[in-house]
Amino acid sequence: MQADFLETLDEDIANADPGGQIDFPHMPEGQAVDMGLAADGTPLFDPRILNSSEFSRNPYPYYRILRDHYPVYHDKLHNTYYVTRYDDITACYFDDEGFNTIPKGSSSGVLGNTQLELSGVEHRRRRNLYGQHLVGQSLQHRVPSIQRLAQAMVDDWEQQLDQPHFEQRGGKRLVELGKAFANEFPIRVVCEVLGFPKEAQSDFYYWYNSMMSGLGGSATHKAGLEARQHLEDYVEDIVQQRRQSPTYLYDEQGNPIAKDIITKLCETQIDGDVLSTEEITSNISLLVAAGGETTRGAIINMWYLLLQHPDQFAQLQADDSLWDQAFHETLRHSSPIGGQPRHNTYDIEMHGVAVPAGSLMQMVDFSANHDDRVFADPDSFNMFREDLYAGKLLRSGYNKGGKCSHMAFGAGPHLCPGAWISHQEAVEGSKILLQRLGDPVLCLEKMPTEQDGQTLKPNGIAPVRELWVEYTHS
Ligand code: HEM
Repeated sequence: MQADFLETLDEDIANADPGGQIDFPHMPEGQAVDMGLAADGTPLFDPRILNSSEFSRNPYPYYRILRDHYPVYHDKLHNTYYVTRYDDITACYFDDEGFNTIPKGSSSGVLGNTQLELSGVEHRRRRNLYGQHLVGQSLQHRVPSIQRLAQAMVDDWEQQLDQPHFEQRGGKRLVELGKAFANEFPIRVVCEVLGFPKEAQSDFYYWYNSMMSGLGGSATHKAGLEARQHLEDYVEDIVQQRRQSPTYLYDEQGNPIAKDIITKLCETQIDGDVLSTEEITSNISLLVAAGGETTRGAIINMWYLLLQHPDQFAQLQADDSLWDQAFHETLRHSSPIGGQPRHNTYDIEMHGVAVPAGSLMQMVDFSANHDDRVFADPDSFNMFREDLYAGKLLRSGYNKGGKCSHMAFGAGPHLCPGAWISHQEAVEGSKILLQRLGDPVLCLEKMPTEQDGQTLKPNGIAPVRELWVEYTHS
């Protein structure tokens, strides 16, 4: 099978390295390695770059080559068709019938059978089960509890000063914002919105971490499955209780706002049948898995970018209504999610490339967000850019009056239903962090650098893992 597959690769690639690995040099950020030119002067694209460390740290010049010269690129090495232009990706996301999400499958072992894998009516039904709880009035009522959770985490810092994520330097204090805030805050928010008792929060964080590592499909997969089983056992008891007596979320004055999401899921009937515990657990797992690492990445990338742009940060310190813009520009510039797989239902031809039905087509959201057909000077972080829609209510595929929405939340029927709540988490959480940090600066010596030991590592494909900040403790 492997040999047959390799025979279909371009000969030079197959002969040079059947494993598809090659050491590409690290280039200055924004510049691509020279992969050669075709006879007509078109830059060539070597798919082995996609496996390289150069690509993970500096992906954008390579996406530019794809957008400009191979907008639908058949990568024979990974047997994938990459779609890289903003307009093409938007059209595919809206065409749920022509480009469906079935069979994604990679997460199903750990997360269970989730709506990610569904399309059409069945998908809409599942999504509507909880969708309304994450938007509009329900969300508005929840903002005070998001603020309260953020404030409680920051207030707890004084008890953590002996932990490795804090350091004292003379009159200054260093804090690593991932461990001190961003890693756990989104999980606490989802846990509360779902309606889990407070005592379960630390178990919940453990289940979440194990399930996320289990998605890697490696040795950690077993631990992921075990964590899912623990979660399911725990949910089973809760479901039995909630089926008897529903529980509510309350506003700051103690008035009930609405039933929590678990109660809603317990009451839901589809064609006269209630959801099984397994189905309820899958919904819960999906919300937690989809809302944790993504929002963590958004918060931490936003702070990293802002602290690298002190002029923009200073304006934000003077006017906290600018956080909305900072959030959306972060998601455009350095989204925590690179893209989504789809399968084409029919044989199609796009940009002259024939794509047989059932092919794996990767919609590259990273590339759409840096498409200079839509966003001017796309590799620069500029929260004042005029071509980005940065309103409070993200609209799927917004494109009006010269402003477009970014693609970090996807578009069309699968548009992220957590977009609005993650926005509130990042913005409200960051306002509270800023009050605590006062006048923070990036602690350069603790951040990963390039080989010269001076230049900060570019943002690249993966969200920043650790973010060390220095602040004056008052
Ligand atoms: C900045 C943070 C976030 C980013 C960048 C993000 C990104 C995305 C993207 C790109 C999709 C589309 C998947 C597709 O087209 O196949 C998606 C789907 C989804 N997201 Fe988010 N997400 C974030 C936060 C959240 C939060 C906080 C929640 C829940 C509380 C959440 C729940 C979901 C769910 C349930 C889906 C599946 C929707 C469906 O298939 O209909 N996300 N997200």
